[in-house]
Amino acid sequence: MAIDNDFGRLHIPAIVKRLGGFLLACVGLLVALICLTASVHAWWAVAIFGSLVLLGLWDMNQRHHALMRNYPIIARARWVFEELRPYLRQYVVEGDLEGRPIDRDSRSVVYARAKGQESAMAFGTRLNVYSSDYEFITHSMAPRPHCEGDLRVDVGGADCKLPYSASLLNISAMSFGSLSANAIESLNLGAKRGNFYHDTGEGSISRYHRKHGGDIVWEIGSGYFGCRNRDGSFDEGAFQATAQDPQVKMIEIKLSQGAKPGHGGMLPGAKVTEEIAEARGVPVGTDCISPAFHSAFNSPREMIEWAAKLRELSGGKPVGLKFCVGQPHEVFAMAKAMHELDTTVDFVVVDGGEGGTGAAPQEFADHVGMPLREGLVLTRNALVGAGLRDRVRIAAAGKATGAFHIAANAAIGADWTNAARAFMFTVGCIHSLKCHTGECPVGVATQDKLRQRGLVVEDKAQRVHRFHDHTIETLKEIVAAAGLDHPSELEPHHLHHRISPNELRAIDRIYPFITCDQLIEDPGATRYADWWAAAQTDSFRPHRDIQVDREARYQEARGRGVF
Ligand SMILES: Cc1cc2nc3c(=O)[nH]c(=O)nc-3n(C[C@H](O)[C@H](O)[C@H](O)COP(=O)(O)O)c2cc1C
Ligand code: SF4
Repeated sequence: MAIDNDFGRLHIPAIVKRLGGFLLACVGLLVALICLTASVHAWWAVAIFGSLVLLGLWDMNQRHHALMRNYPIIARARWVFEELRPYLRQYVVEGDLEGRPIDRDSRSVVYARAKGQESAMAFGTRLNVYSSDYEFITHSMAPRPHCEGDLRVDVGGADCKLPYSASLLNISAMSFGSLSANAIESLNLGAKRGNFYHDTGEGSISRYHRKHGGDIVWEIGSGYFGCRNRDGSFDEGAFQATAQDPQVKMIEIKLSQGAKPGHGGMLPGAKVTEEIAEARGVPVGTDCISPAFHSAFNSPREMIEWAAKLRELSGGKPVGLKFCVGQPHEVFAMAKAMHELDTTVDFVVVDGGEGGTGAAPQEFADHVGMPLREGLVLTRNALVGAGLRDRVRIAAAGKATGAFHIAANAAIGADWTNAARAFMFTVGCIHSLKCHTGECPVGVATQDKLRQRGLVVEDKAQRVHRFHDHTIETLKEIVAAAGLDHPSELEPHHLHHRISPNELRAIDRIYPFITCDQLIEDPGATRYADWWAAAQTDSFRPHRDIQVDREARYQEARGRGVF
């Protein structure tokens, strides 16, 4: 060992730095062996240091981890801290407004409402009201009395024999398989008590959805679980039999979900238990594949015709589409097809790119799919512009944890809001972000019966119910404060957004909100002219080169001095 002359620092030879942990274990073992000659009680020290020496030898000779080969024993500390990092962050470091995907403050509000505790806040907002993502609802000088009763919206037009009255807050699609049996039971029982709906997710209807009889929206994904032939294609007879079950209130055709749009999915055979296989109509233990695309239709026109057929087969129940907006011309093609056929779906659910999932490739979760705000505006404009808005209801999903989110969605054009992760919090999710591992510590996102033991259905169902009711009550208060009688009266100008430290804008001064029939009568007057022109009902592909059209329009606008 030598002293570094320039800086007076202790110079430790590289070999000691590298093998320090292992060398210390060797020295410890040597000392323990010497002690053992004096006293038999030193056996435990021999055992400990002996194990460490063996571990060091194993580390140096394994071939997978360079760090462990170079720094035996000590390198393991890194793994320990990596494991502890999420817990240290969440419980020690994380601030109230931090935490991704859902921040602590939002989680706390859900927990408090679910437990029936006071969710009031002392000493004023913790938000920075001058930051560029700040939003608020404009209140009135003349608030109204709170509206009475439950807040509901009628779904299902003239083609529906069995329309449904939906709550303004419902449980978004999450399959049995990604969630546990106890979680599904709690959600469904809570939905029954609160009179709102529980979306099955694409894993179809399990025995746990049926046990308590809460309203079900049956989601049909590209795997056609619960209504598929052996080759994975759609089985009309099986669909009809289940869709006519009185517990099923509406049918939702899933085109995509925000966390992994266009990706499809697979439940590995190892996770396809007897109960999951029973719900999905697939063999036990074989991989359960949801293709990225549907085989029942090939064009927007066929899609709308198929939706109409499902409505008929279900006995006249509302049928909707769920999607995360991707290429705009496809949304316009959907609207064009409904306009041309004079047949509509009864509702659409717009999911934001910020949506959740049990598991998704990071690139898809982070960078594929339009965020809710823009997707909702575009969908609303496609339906309003094509003159369909009074026949098609709109629902929105994307990080809704409280009444403000429902109000904001309503201001932009949503008739109701669905929440997935907020309801997961109500059944005990602690945001440990391990859903994809099957090791959910609270039994929410796992099939492990032992882990599910911690989730007591009766207790959690009550929380599901309470969260729904308290959130709806708060929504009523917001609506009344805005001087309105019902959330459907909220308009874009009621929602303001900060765009810089010294500028606020109403949402209708940030996004376009086109008027009824504008796409039919004068599409060129809207900023969607190119997308509308490119939308064709016989194919999801654009009908002409959108880029050429857009460039021509840009050059023309430049000529007029618009840009
Ligand atoms: C665990 C989990 C499973 C999900 N499974 C489905 C599914 O089967 N089908 C679907 O359309 N969406 C699924 N989603 C997406 C949600 O229904 C919802 O659209 C999205 O998470 C946005 O809502 P949130 O921000 O309130 O979570 C799932 C989400 C989660 C968190
Ligand atoms: S506790 Fe963790 S693993 Fe369980 S559902 Fe919540 S985020 Fe997923």
